[in-house]
Amino acid sequence: MRKRGRDPLVVSSGVVGEALIGNPDQVTEPVSMVIFGITGDLARKKLIPAIYDLAHGGQLPPNFDLVGFDRDCTDVETRLRSAVIAHSRTPFDPAVWAELAERFHLVQGSFDDTAAFARLSARLSELDVRRGKPGNYVFYLSIPPSAFATVCDQLAITGLNRNAYGWRRIVVEKPFGHDLASSQILGAALERVFPPSSIYRIDHYLGKETVQNILALRFANGMFEPLWNNRHIDHVQITMAESVGVTGRAGYYDGVGAARDVIQNHLLQLVALIAMEEPVAFDADGIAAEKIKVLSATELLGPLSETSARGQYGAGMENGVPMPALADEAGFPAESATETFAALTVGIATRRWAGVPFFIRSGKRLARRTTEIAVTFTPPAHGSPVAGAAAVSNVLVFRLQPDDGIELHIGAKRPGGGMHIQPVSLGMNFQSVFDPAPEAYERLICDVLRGDATLFPRSEEVEWSWRVIDPLLEHWARCNGPDVYPSGKSGPESANQILSRFGRAWRAL
Ligand code: BG6
Repeated sequence: MRKRGRDPLVVSSGVVGEALIGNPDQVTEPVSMVIFGITGDLARKKLIPAIYDLAHGGQLPPNFDLVGFDRDCTDVETRLRSAVIAHSRTPFDPAVWAELAERFHLVQGSFDDTAAFARLSARLSELDVRRGKPGNYVFYLSIPPSAFATVCDQLAITGLNRNAYGWRRIVVEKPFGHDLASSQILGAALERVFPPSSIYRIDHYLGKETVQNILALRFANGMFEPLWNNRHIDHVQITMAESVGVTGRAGYYDGVGAARDVIQNHLLQLVALIAMEEPVAFDADGIAAEKIKVLSATELLGPLSETSARGQYGAGMENGVPMPALADEAGFPAESATETFAALTVGIATRRWAGVPFFIRSGKRLARRTTEIAVTFTPPAHGSPVAGAAAVSNVLVFRLQPDDGIELHIGAKRPGGGMHIQPVSLGMNFQSVFDPAPEAYERLICDVLRGDATLFPRSEEVEWSWRVIDPLLEHWARCNGPDVYPSGKSGPESANQILSRFGRAWRAL
């Protein structure tokens, strides 16, 4: 039997240590990519700019074609050009755009229009013949989940899901349902039409370089793993704070809220990466297996009235500008109970993590934008003879954004007479060490084109995450609405009380 790659940290795209630094991941197979909802917000702000950035870096496959499918195809090229100018990471180069625009095709139609799907199929075949391509297609559903099943059915009717030759992949965006039951229905609709190995669920946090660095830090270095357990870790705090509100997003956000929008997916994925065991191999199967174990052992710590909090922003300032309360935002009903802030406490029922609380919070319109994971180590077991040392807790901080980097807080002697200890931090900023990292969507699109599913959550991960969150959503449904907090601050007071009950405090925003 062939042994699975047990060599030090063999990653699907290289070897950590040798290849962590830049791996161009050139896609070599010719592909046609179809984006459903090409004129939508996500396509304009993220997907097309990322595809442009890949083109700019020469990373698109040979004979690449991009087919947009949408109801409204007026002026699409002009709209996308402006989107690229506004949102791409790399500078706008008219020559690169011209080359990409030449590869750009449109099919107009609605998602339930079988004739339009027949036209799409004909266009894809024609491109295959014209360029001598083998029929590899990516279908990117940049559309509301309510339309997923309709599009999948149409792909099946036209036979576009079947690959007598070439391969077919489908990409879907969160939210993957609004609870466990609906996510299972959604999953079944996709799996009726595509095999699980062809379904790529995007959680853009997994495409962030700093998120991938969690595993590098933990497993490519010898010094952290021996401490990475309940004997040495006191607690973990995960914070995703945003200074922006949800202006203009009522259609999506009302009735969704922070727990469903970012905690069920992005932040529980971070929990999984922080807590998982070292995978047998650094590939899609190896990493998914370990993440699934963690998520299946993750549970809310209660009682929920004391270990969770939810809030909704009131009026206040956003980046120095006065902003309305959520209840006064266009599209939100005045009585909306949607939370723009959520905090909760989870535990992981394994030998490694028993007794270590993970405090998670996320909110909009907070004092500043920051996403970080802070791992706080237990202080020395005995009192220290060094004056003031007891006040210092070692904290390892993964700063995901902005200023992505890693910090270790330690105590150091203040210069001068006596032995006075002061907390100081040792820091590393990725931007100052490495070339600018690709955007998450560049990484993820590139991986879909290459067929590398390592950074895409599987249906089991999605379902276990809903199993964690569902009881909290049910609890909130039985309670009064969220606590209103002033915009531009750190969230509702009820969130502070969670940590006070544990004798801890949130890190300052
Ligand atoms: C999205 C959420 O998934 O992530 C948004 O739907 C949120 O509400 C966004 O603003 C944050 O992403 P990032 O990469 O800016 O942290």
